[in-house]
Amino acid sequence: MKIALGVTGGVAAYKSAELVRRLQQEKLDIQVVMTRAAQEFITPLTFAALTGNKVITEMFARDGAAPANVESAIEHIAVAQRIDLLLVAPATADVLAQFAHGIAGDFLTTLYLATKAPVVVAPAMNVNMWEHPATRDNVAALRSRGVHVVDPGEGYLACGMIGAGRLAETESIAQKVCAVLGLRHDFAGQTVLVTAGPTREDLDPVRFLTNRSSGKMGYALAEAAVRRGARVVLVSGPTNLPAPAGADWIPVRSTEEMRGAVREHSAQANVIVMAAAVADYRPAIVHARKMKRAGERIALELEPTPDILAELGRERRENHTAPRSILVGFAAETEQIAERAREKLARKAADMIAANDVTQEGAGFDGDTNVVTLFLRDGRQIPLPKLSKFEVANRILDQVLDLQKP
Ligand code: CTP
Repeated sequence: MKIALGVTGGVAAYKSAELVRRLQQEKLDIQVVMTRAAQEFITPLTFAALTGNKVITEMFARDGAAPANVESAIEHIAVAQRIDLLLVAPATADVLAQFAHGIAGDFLTTLYLATKAPVVVAPAMNVNMWEHPATRDNVAALRSRGVHVVDPGEGYLACGMIGAGRLAETESIAQKVCAVLGLRHDFAGQTVLVTAGPTREDLDPVRFLTNRSSGKMGYALAEAAVRRGARVVLVSGPTNLPAPAGADWIPVRSTEEMRGAVREHSAQANVIVMAAAVADYRPAIVHARKMKRAGERIALELEPTPDILAELGRERRENHTAPRSILVGFAAETEQIAERAREKLARKAADMIAANDVTQEGAGFDGDTNVVTLFLRDGRQIPLPKLSKFEVANRILDQVLDLQKP
């Protein structure tokens, strides 16, 4: 995920460097935007070195072109659309006033107006400035618009006075950012193995059998588990999706390759989610050379592929000493959803089957939403409404945590 960190001109600006480090632990990609005053306290070079990104320090170059550190003349719009959150720390009384009144005099204040991402501000200033009715009103206006304010702490201030105005602790600011972004740590210490996408079963060097799986559901699961603090291994059949940041991505092609990758990592996994649409059959003969047109009707002989999920379930059942992992399967059905899901739950010895009716609008392979019912081993059946695949992923992970409870 990408956030913009606005650094404004206060003594606490040096603490922003530490904040960058802390936020990087959350695997956030950070674009720093500095006001002119901030550069009096700390150099852009520090943030460029820490983040690996160019630091934005100005809106326009003197010749009217985009400045050297900005990709284009409308970069504020591009950044505004790209970020998942805007954080300003430290936020001076001046920047809070500009935000409150919609004054867009520089890159940061323009970015605030242009973004629809949530905004978090961590004010830092002299106690009298913080308590001034003007600042009070500005902060109240920002709160009423949904801006999240991490209140300053009390203590010795740089100006020698004692009182409220000190930039909140780095950890408090990081916690607020995580809460607003929905980053939880409830999978910390766990390894989640996810399979995604279709498999391809070769017929000859140029042809293969496959299915319409886009991989979106599995990738959403991997992303959700990463955000919740898990170590994630994503074994993926061929898809058009970019490898999710923060996950170990293992591309595979055939069912046999997927099986090999899953078996290699299953022993360390606390949770295994088989979201891949694995081919059930493969050509019994793979031709070494391209098959020639024969002119007549031909029949393809197919043989069953190994059922990866059923194998894992069987081994788990037979080996009682092995640490118990949670096994989750998917079932894409076109009829008799509940009966088929229950049958798969039993046959594959899984803990949960997430079943969907792929004929339903908003469910299935290509879309960004899914309509899923969770079938659990204890007989429970949890229907979920139509949700984004990311939200479905989180609901499945919530249920996994529930199953892990002693
Ligand atoms: N699965 C698997 N290995 C296979 C086939 C399926 O691990 N060779 C997993 C899928 O990833 C999914 C679950 O098993 O999590 C159910 O897949 P599905 O194809 O619906 O089940 P099948 O047993 O193939 O039943 P069906 O006759 O409905 O195709």
